[in-house]
Amino acid sequence: MKTEAQSPRAKRGSAARERAPGARDPVRVPRSNDARALTIALPRGRILDEALPLFKRAGFDLGAAEKARAGRRLIIAVPEHGLRILIVRDTDVPAYVEHGAADLGIAGRDVLEEQDRDLYEPLDLGIGRCRMVVAEPEDRPVDENAQMHLRYATKFSEITRRHLQSRGTVAEIIKLYGSIEIAPLVGLADRIVDLVSSGETLRQHRLREVETIMNVSARLCVGRAAAKLHAERIDELVGRLREAVRVSSAA
Ligand code: PRP
Repeated sequence: MKTEAQSPRAKRGSAARERAPGARDPVRVPRSNDARALTIALPRGRILDEALPLFKRAGFDLGAAEKARAGRRLIIAVPEHGLRILIVRDTDVPAYVEHGAADLGIAGRDVLEEQDRDLYEPLDLGIGRCRMVVAEPEDRPVDENAQMHLRYATKFSEITRRHLQSRGTVAEIIKLYGSIEIAPLVGLADRIVDLVSSGETLRQHRLREVETIMNVSARLCVGRAAAKLHAERIDELVGRLREAVRVSSAA
């Protein structure tokens, strides 16, 4: 359900009261120099859901961020903790951090390894766990020695390329952006490289795992400039999150 995040102005001003019902307050873009706020890029979805309790355990209650997110706000100031949150697509987190638009971010190992950007990765948060696997139709297993022109469909074309290269396998890689599991069922590919969590999507499409390429979980990533400019605050944040991860994994 969408709930409207109220801005301070909406609470105060008569102008806000005169606005048509349902009209939104314009987004007030919290500046990064608001009390030298550290800017964190967080990916929407499951990782964000798991990251918020972890931040809370680390002493950063981002309840305001959760409320604002429900109101569709994508830039959220959390002045009580000196933070500014950007809600972005998971695949966009590394770009925000590398270019310094965010000081740090959270991204899956899958995203980080696929993009291979120039970032520090000081902490594995142990959330958003899944595996990246090669899979193929149960009833049409690939014979790597006999089949000449193999096609792999995937969102992770770079990781797949490196994996195939390390195996000495020559194959065509077909880059897709979602619903990878249907590619082998409709003749687009022989195999897929994709993420598996519960395994239900593979089962539903009668695909079987051939091998695991990597275990995936979400990591904290830090930009090189930010690591120098805000070393003390980032060290403190990383330290508190590290302790929260330790406590969570012991629980
Ligand atoms: C991910 C992944 C698999 C599915 C695996 O898809 O790409 O399709 O989840 O989960 P499971 O093992 O629990 O079934 P996502 O929901 O991100 O959709 P998309 O890749 O099609 O965009």
